[in-house]
Amino acid sequence: MMSSGTNSRPNRSQGGEFGTAAWELLLPAAAAPARRRGRALQSALREAVRSGRLVPGTRLPSSRALAADLRVSRGLVTEAYEQLTAEGYLRSGRGAGTWVSEAVRAPVPGARDLAPRAEDVRVDFRPGTPDLSLFPRSAWAAAHRSVLGRLPHGALGYPDPRGLPVLREALAALLSRRRGVVADPERLVVCSGVAQATTLLGFVLHGRGMRSVGVEDPGSPEHSALFASAGITTIGLPLDDEGLATEPLVRSGVRAVVTTPAHQFPTGIAYSAARRGRLLEWARATDGLIMEDDYDGDFRYDRAPVGALQGLDPEHVAYTGSVSKSLAPGLRLGWLLAPTDMTDEIVARKRTMDLGNPAVDQAVLADFITRGGYDRQLRRCQRAYRERRDTLTSMLAEHFPGTEVSGIAAGLHIIATLPERYGPEAAFMARAADAGVALRPLGNYGTLPGEDGAVRLVLGYAHLAPADIERGVRLLAAAHRGANGRAAGGGGRVFI
Ligand SMILES: Cc1ncc(COP(=O)(O)O)c(C=O)c1O
Repeated sequence: MMSSGTNSRPNRSQGGEFGTAAWELLLPAAAAPARRRGRALQSALREAVRSGRLVPGTRLPSSRALAADLRVSRGLVTEAYEQLTAEGYLRSGRGAGTWVSEAVRAPVPGARDLAPRAEDVRVDFRPGTPDLSLFPRSAWAAAHRSVLGRLPHGALGYPDPRGLPVLREALAALLSRRRGVVADPERLVVCSGVAQATTLLGFVLHGRGMRSVGVEDPGSPEHSALFASAGITTIGLPLDDEGLATEPLVRSGVRAVVTTPAHQFPTGIAYSAARRGRLLEWARATDGLIMEDDYDGDFRYDRAPVGALQGLDPEHVAYTGSVSKSLAPGLRLGWLLAPTDMTDEIVARKRTMDLGNPAVDQAVLADFITRGGYDRQLRRCQRAYRERRDTLTSMLAEHFPGTEVSGIAAGLHIIATLPERYGPEAAFMARAADAGVALRPLGNYGTLPGEDGAVRLVLGYAHLAPADIERGVRLLAAAHRGANGRAAGGGGRVFI
């Protein structure tokens, strides 16, 4: 046990005690270079409290016992206890003893997401953004100039809430050509991203009396948050190898479900043809609605992209996408194509929400698309991202042998499952954070098929130059070797 003062690994203890998980979170800090060890220990302890690994009321080991277990000087532990007590994370009781303060707020969901402080991040593998440095600034500026030169004054008035006709036509042609979408410009609504499309749908469904929708589990937490803002709760539905499992969907009784069939977020599964068919059967049988979030469907590396589900049954699928992955999320431009009988209600909602998207931005995107800039941009990014994906997978194979990667055929991130010997996951995350590598575990996105001790990571690569990907994997490998060397008495250190 911790208080024994020996170097043996402590037994797993009950919640509220200082157990294995907390001890493991501190180990990498103890293995940090001497000049950084004190600070590292403080930040690991702080993180253990913040993340809920150490719950309020937990009694910490004496400074002498913890120092012996971690093989650091007692002074460092005393200093860490004093500092965190001053910050309010810990409190000292009457007589001897230090506890996690009851004043610390309960952890919020996602607290597993241990990350280095922003200023300490050296390589950031968290998924979500494309390479913003590839944004086509000159072509965009040229489109801007050209649009402002010819836009009549009247076009600067309140726009059609559905979007400028010229953009709806350009998008309809683009989506039908690239994604196999049945795209009628009259039914297409321009909005500020998938986020707003989700909220619009949420309001319309709520107006029709719906109070719950199904979402993929694991899936994007944003979907639930956005539906919640429209007064709709979400029910997590499990996946299998082919996509969203249909039996639990049928049993759940929901009449609408959110899906990411081209490249499931975050697992990367491409829904099988059979599963797509079953989902559409479900929608027809229940008069249900499938929301298809095609957030990164444009990026597929080894063969042609899988066409959108919406193309198979446009009256049962509401299709949405945006330029957030292809150009930049900061543009806040996206689209929603809903079944015919929902379109008027969606447009009415869009009008009351914001009176339409900015007219100039819409005209610029229309110009950019019709002159071929969008296709050129996708080709350019596709080349760059494929190279980055290949760099990441080969670096993982070299430095973390036995790692399985999945979801690599498309999108901007992969799933890496590292063998158990690299775990437990909390310790891996803590070491990564200490080495300045920001990671996001798959477990942050929902329920996983089985807790087998493997480390499962969602690694975004598109925004990183190949050299940064290499550096990031090397830092992780060195941090792992360092901790192992130390655990084996070798005192390994991270020098990268
Ligand atoms: C699953 C999913 N859908 C949609 C989006 C994009 O949302 P938006 O188009 O509002 O930027 C993201 C962004 O990361 C995403 O992960």
